[in-house]
Amino acid sequence: MENVKKENFVLYGTFVYSRDKSELISYTDSYLVCTGGCSRGIFRELPEEYRDLPIRDVRGMLTVPGLIDLHIHAPQYQFRGSGMDMELLPWLEKYTFPEEERYKDPEYADKAYSMFAEELKRGATTRACIFATSHRSATLKLMEIMEETGLCTFVGKVNMDRNVPSYYLESTEDSVNETVEWLREAKKAGLSHTFPIITPRFTPSCSRELMLKLASLAEQYAVPVQSHLSENLSEVEWVKELEGDTSCYADSYVKAGIIKKGIPCIMAHCVWSGDEEQEILKDNGVFIAHSPDSNINLSSGAAPVKAYLDKGLNVGLATDVAGGSTTSMISSVRCAIQVSKLRNRLFDGDTPALSFPEAFYIATKGGGAFFGKVGSFDEGYEFDALILDDLSIPTMRADMTPEERLERFIYLGDDRQIRGKYAAGRKIL
Ligand code: GUN
Ligand code: FE
Repeated sequence: MENVKKENFVLYGTFVYSRDKSELISYTDSYLVCTGGCSRGIFRELPEEYRDLPIRDVRGMLTVPGLIDLHIHAPQYQFRGSGMDMELLPWLEKYTFPEEERYKDPEYADKAYSMFAEELKRGATTRACIFATSHRSATLKLMEIMEETGLCTFVGKVNMDRNVPSYYLESTEDSVNETVEWLREAKKAGLSHTFPIITPRFTPSCSRELMLKLASLAEQYAVPVQSHLSENLSEVEWVKELEGDTSCYADSYVKAGIIKKGIPCIMAHCVWSGDEEQEILKDNGVFIAHSPDSNINLSSGAAPVKAYLDKGLNVGLATDVAGGSTTSMISSVRCAIQVSKLRNRLFDGDTPALSFPEAFYIATKGGGAFFGKVGSFDEGYEFDALILDDLSIPTMRADMTPEERLERFIYLGDDRQIRGKYAAGRKIL
């Protein structure tokens, strides 16, 4: 990793981050210290012990924690923006499965994944939880490519042993054996910030037998799991038909050992999770990957994210490319607020919309918690940061607070205004 160095340094400038779920905190003309990949805190006067460190002067910019994309499909990058008039199940058949099958070709996988990785590197995402395809070698290739970017990621070989077209179906046995082989190879690859994550696609495409075996691999190899849950109404109905002995969709993962205390777990979407399902998610500390852009595009619905936050569930934000059309976590923050406002106005008047600080929180500290101490500049947090040139977006206003500048950036800015980026102290841009 010659091109991505971990350094000890100080940033001097203006900082904004989440004090807690509902409040931002800011500092101007201050020093943010990074040593050993972690923040040592923000100081108005630079403490004596850090005076020898190089100082990067970023006054005039806005420095914020990196954004965490808790759910994204790397192989779907190539067809993002296509098939957006379909709902989930026909969209998977028509666009997703045929494209994902192409990753059996190593040359295609290498080129396509390199494009994906380059865009993530240039954008606001510092960490991501990524679905690959069922192909072991292409998944390992993706891990190597992601490692080169310097970003921190979990990458999963997808498992599917039922209800997918024959050209893309694995037998239960092959799916398990390939996963074991992939876990071994991933361990041997000596990657420092790219980790495997067990990835049953979703209950409709995974038998109970397969998921039980994957759950034991998660425990045996001490790796987390990720999947999809209660995204679309036809999908939820289908799971009821397929899994007669379950009380709700999440129960199909509980019965298979995929949702279990002690196994870190991400479930994407949770648009239609009822009270019992929410209890299961809370009891087991499951992270909900809220994907508002995808939920609009595939007409899935508007997830009750504000209620999830208020009830103390773990919530992170995600793009879900290519259900979501863009890898931009900046638009995802904006979209989360907008979807939440429509939900409140149209059918959930008792629950307020997500506020701007809440949306920023789920994009940083909320999802960051899946990676450990991530998403804040408080002392001891891993150093993920974005340096934003927000003032290059025209305005005559010169009296904005840092918090107001951040909100304006989220609504008007994009990846082109990113002037610097760090993940775990590594300089990415
Ligand atoms: N559910 C199962 N697979 C997928 C997928 O690839 N994208 C989305 N959005 N939902 C899914
Ligand atoms: Fe998804």
